[in-house]
Amino acid sequence: VVVVHNGIVENYLELREWLVSEGHTFSTETDTEAIANLVAWSLRRGRSLHEAVQDTLERLEGSYGMVVMAASEPHRIIVARQDSPLVIGVGPHGRYAASDMPALLPLTRDFVVLENGEHAVLEPQAHRIYDRAGRVIPRESVRCDWTPEQAEKQGFPHFMLKEIHEQPDVLARTAFERCLDLEGDVSFEEGFGLSDAALRGIGRLRFMAMGTSLHAAMIGQQLAGALARLPGETLNASEFLYSAELEEGDALTVVVSQSGETADSLRALREVKRRGGRVLGICNVRGSTLAREADHLIFTHCGPEIGVASTKAFFGQVVALYLLAIRLGRARGVLDAAEGRARLADLRGLRHRMEALFEPPALAAVRSAAEFLAGVRSCLFLGRALQHPVALEGALKLKEISYIHAEGYPAGEMKHGPIALIDPDFPVVALVTPGRTYEKMLSNLQEVRARGGRVIAVAASGDAKAAASADFLLPVPAVPELLAPLVTVVPLQFLAYYTALLLGRDIDQPRNLAKSVTVE
Ligand code: AGP
Repeated sequence: VVVVHNGIVENYLELREWLVSEGHTFSTETDTEAIANLVAWSLRRGRSLHEAVQDTLERLEGSYGMVVMAASEPHRIIVARQDSPLVIGVGPHGRYAASDMPALLPLTRDFVVLENGEHAVLEPQAHRIYDRAGRVIPRESVRCDWTPEQAEKQGFPHFMLKEIHEQPDVLARTAFERCLDLEGDVSFEEGFGLSDAALRGIGRLRFMAMGTSLHAAMIGQQLAGALARLPGETLNASEFLYSAELEEGDALTVVVSQSGETADSLRALREVKRRGGRVLGICNVRGSTLAREADHLIFTHCGPEIGVASTKAFFGQVVALYLLAIRLGRARGVLDAAEGRARLADLRGLRHRMEALFEPPALAAVRSAAEFLAGVRSCLFLGRALQHPVALEGALKLKEISYIHAEGYPAGEMKHGPIALIDPDFPVVALVTPGRTYEKMLSNLQEVRARGGRVIAVAASGDAKAAASADFLLPVPAVPELLAPLVTVVPLQFLAYYTALLLGRDIDQPRNLAKSVTVE
């Protein structure tokens, strides 16, 4: 019996003890081996492979994306899913199973997605899906339009570098077909499903996500406040489960997730729905659990994001949240057509303005800052307002691929503790872009340097004041303040990438990390 299992069997010790009492021996400490032995136990008693797996599923508690085969039935594969994702590839010459679609793109682009509690029997030319009770479920396959080439590196040394460079295209693919330039409005596909009246009925927004997507969600909250005058809060999804159960009322929860499979975010989504709330999902993967369980949907069109460190997905999420804020503002009558047209024009203009971020002068500046950063053990990222989540994101990028400790902070917090850390070996990366926060950020730089700290400033190209207060200046194009996170995040992505490169890290698959955290 062969079992491939992604997830956690929570009652495996109890199962293992029973199996040992039934004469089974174990060669590993893994929960997966308990599954294999449960299947063998049933096979020995004359059950078919399908029946043996059904018996086993009834006894498992926990999460699994599982594939089971047995020597006795070599032409058959049984797959099952509970919380850990699993897709079935439907090809002309066979059926395939994987935890997500990019793994199977070289074989097929047609997929059937298993829902929680379902299992399936795969044979070379057929597949049958069953529910928990063993009833056959008819299900259409979905077509994944990612070509295998998209999921390849296209000449870049790492997926992460390729994905950073794809961001201008992500802007175009996620935004431009949705912009109603003449009306100064935005139109989402049918999966959005929120009419003007429904949008007017929303009294507050709750954003929830994990990791990089949480940073995008924090920006989404500020954009909705600025463009739609809607109050909001942003919560770490894993914390929501412990929050007091209050009235959902006229709230709309926005769950942001690239993979649509993050266990913490899905648990939070299910908790919101259990409390009677509604959920809008912002997601990059069709057929993902989030895409199927959210009441309303906005897809980002980033293409497959392979690098564990999320870059273009963050970018696509912020673009989608900017469009959502415009749609909300227009539906609620707080953003008129002229302002809507101006905001959309700002977005359309961004693609050209971003080009400077990928040109030699900008990249040379980043690489020299990375030479310096590769030698430090810890650093601080500072930003204010819309640049505060970008500071958090820059710190996350650096720590997860270079393994250098980094903390993101709202710059106003400096005097409330972190400034005690500043010395020549504890540098600061600061986001000093034009707008309401500029002067205060400039004084933050001066405070750091007055204490012997080194400064890497992300600032508008040609900003002499910032340059005079920094050891390294990473230039960004001057863009409207609401879009500034989409340009300031790019040098921080490059900074993390080139620092990790200098340190010889495994950039696309950093130690201890998974692309999709499907367990809590
Ligand atoms: C970010 O670089 C990490 N890969 C991680 O924090 C990630 O953003 C987080 O696990 C959320 O993933 P999701 O967007 O697929 O839900």
